[in-house]
Amino acid sequence: MERTFLAIKPDGVQRGLVGEIIRRFETKGFTLVALKFMKVSKELAEQHYDVHRERPFFAGLVEFITSGPVVAMVWEGEGVVASARKIIGATNPLTSEPGTIRGDFGISIGRNLIHGSDAIETAQREIALWFKDDELVSWQPHL
Ligand code: CMP
Repeated sequence: MERTFLAIKPDGVQRGLVGEIIRRFETKGFTLVALKFMKVSKELAEQHYDVHRERPFFAGLVEFITSGPVVAMVWEGEGVVASARKIIGATNPLTSEPGTIRGDFGISIGRNLIHGSDAIETAQREIALWFKDDELVSWQPHL
């Protein structure tokens, strides 16, 4: 079954949006597979954002994601990677549609509340980077 990696960034935690954000994926019907509340090391942040290493905002990205606790999660379900990106909204909250997480709660591209894997292969890489195998819980919801 398809899985994606989501992380509520330090701004989402600071603003008290953890419950609201998790609720949106739960009520949509996706299945929570892993969740941890953690400070991100510089090493993990640099690996996570490796594709952005040459961008001018790379140092700021790493500094921000390591600035306070985050909620790292794995969610499962059919089409979850693309669907989660829709629920999250466009990268720049100023242009994200109302009804999306970023569209409803953000205005800053550098403080856009939540990260979601952009493709199935990226999700596999990010899940392996952030979680050990025994932190993933396989279960079947009885709906
Ligand atoms: P995220 O989904 O975590 O993946 C990469 C992040 O880079 C993105 O969210 C934004 O927070 C950030 N980002 C993208 N473009 C810019 C930019 N032009 N300036 C600052 N941050 C950016």
